[in-house]
Amino acid sequence: MPVGATTDLDDAAIRAAATLIQRSRHVAALVGAGLSAESGVPTFRGDGGLWTRFGEPTFDGWELFNSDPGAWWDDALAAQHRDSEFARALDSARPNAGHVAMAEMEQMGRLAHTITQNIDDLQHRAGCRKLTEIHGNRYLVRCMNCGGRDRLSTISLDRLPPLCPECGGTLKTDTVMFGEPIPEDALRECYRQAALADLFLVVGTSAVVYPAAEFPVMAKRRGAALIEINPEETDLTPLADIVVRAAAGAALAAIVDELRAETMA
Ligand code: APR
Repeated sequence: MPVGATTDLDDAAIRAAATLIQRSRHVAALVGAGLSAESGVPTFRGDGGLWTRFGEPTFDGWELFNSDPGAWWDDALAAQHRDSEFARALDSARPNAGHVAMAEMEQMGRLAHTITQNIDDLQHRAGCRKLTEIHGNRYLVRCMNCGGRDRLSTISLDRLPPLCPECGGTLKTDTVMFGEPIPEDALRECYRQAALADLFLVVGTSAVVYPAAEFPVMAKRRGAALIEINPEETDLTPLADIVVRAAAGAALAAIVDELRAETMA
């Protein structure tokens, strides 16, 4: 189904999802590229996905970084100037109704934490603060020694690789490369959410990349409920207690409207 298109919202599923969220003690979310699709950011897989259209990228970034961080930074900065569709889309993207609805759910006290696989910063820009960016954030750098993070825009790139202002360690963009271990602080928080959640909201992800896709399954095994919001079926669909077969923007906004109505009732 094309990004943003949606079948008529299934009102019963929306109402059931809102009721389950309202009754849950600790709602965690796992979100993927589908949440940002309506902001014009292409997804990776499925119809129209970047990798479907252009093939998967080479996975040697992490190896190159480890062998020669300076050369890796040279490549990364040169790539910034190559006019890529993905970078252009990310640079012009704004938070959409789905990001805003999740921020509202968080502010209503109905969403305890989100694990996002997206590096686009859009959920943070929409106002979400209880967020773990398991694949990093394209606007940050991270120290390979102390794990400290800074905004990329504040780091001098006169000398490559840039060094950590705190400990002198080598800095890398925060975006996690294939083969790179997920940062320990992010992983610890994800396992904590999988242990605490009695409801997992899974939005806009094909759920094929690990360890991200494992956390809702771990929660489900402990007895948590699972809601899936996605126009397409995924590997997690069979585990879902409620499936909202729709685009994230419309579905999440409708769920927040229901939560507000239930709160006021
Ligand atoms: N609303 C909700 N879901 C949508 C929408 C939409 N408007 N449009 C597409 N989707 C769904 C697709 O049906 C698909 O299930 O979003 C999902 C996107 O899947 P992927 O492209 O595989 O993206 P994601 O699951 O985030 O990939 C996980 O893989 O490429 C790596 O590191 C990258 O973080 C990424 C990870």
